[in-house]
Amino acid sequence: MSVETRNPLPSATEEVKADLRAKAQAIIARYPAGKARSALLPMLHLVQSVDGYVSPEGVAFCADELGLTKAEVGAVATFYTMYKRRPVGEYLVSVCTNTMCGVLGGDKAYRTLSEHLGVGHDQTTEDGSITLEHAECLAACDYGPVLTVNYEFFDQVDADRALEIVKRLQSGDRPQPSRGARLCSFKETSLQLAGFIDDRDGATADGPSGEPTLAGNRLAERQGVSVPGFDPNTPIKPVPPKAAMPPPATAPKPAADGKPAGDTPPADVRAARKQAAKEGRK
Ligand code: FES
Repeated sequence: MSVETRNPLPSATEEVKADLRAKAQAIIARYPAGKARSALLPMLHLVQSVDGYVSPEGVAFCADELGLTKAEVGAVATFYTMYKRRPVGEYLVSVCTNTMCGVLGGDKAYRTLSEHLGVGHDQTTEDGSITLEHAECLAACDYGPVLTVNYEFFDQVDADRALEIVKRLQSGDRPQPSRGARLCSFKETSLQLAGFIDDRDGATADGPSGEPTLAGNRLAERQGVSVPGFDPNTPIKPVPPKAAMPPPATAPKPAADGKPAGDTPPADVRAARKQAAKEGRK
């Protein structure tokens, strides 16, 4: 990736800026009037789709569009690990080194990639092609050890397989992930995360589901287990207003003196209080 394609917003062409503003408005329109600030998370992905990270200019852009302060935007952007504070390469390679994947080979895979690429955690290769990072549990423990490339999964990767994947990326190839969508660049992934459809032909439909993910469904199918009468198209019912809600079934009945039963302390506490009162203690 050339330096030009990672330019921050001020250097973006007028066309890119106009497109960015139009997309920002499309995101904001997803939320109720007056709730624009709720659009901040997709907006941060949107600015990453232009800059490859949440640049200071991206923070200012979000703040302007959403009526927030830059401090408020920064507070959110620095809380989540998916918002990057430095330019990310074309491919973000995240190796799970959490306990389970770590002991199964994730640690070795990470070390191997780090040595091969000459970078450490959250660093990018000189040519801007690959950013490497340690990742905490990627929620795919049943496929461990796993790594993701721009958040697409490669399952059960040992050090050799991890190295092969990265070498193919460096050679301009895009290996097929184990499941889910095919690979695209970090900026393109960021645009999808902002809620814009990946319009490459078949991009989101060509990856298989993983067997461990489906194991529960298959078991239920074999055992004939299903929710009786469940209609997946059942509309979600609106929650009734609080005043109209019946009291909880477990609410304690009021005692004879009118006080709620829950206010009466246990017998040992009552005895201790009585004794203290006798002795003139508080
Ligand atoms: S520990 Fe690696 S995905 Fe959970």
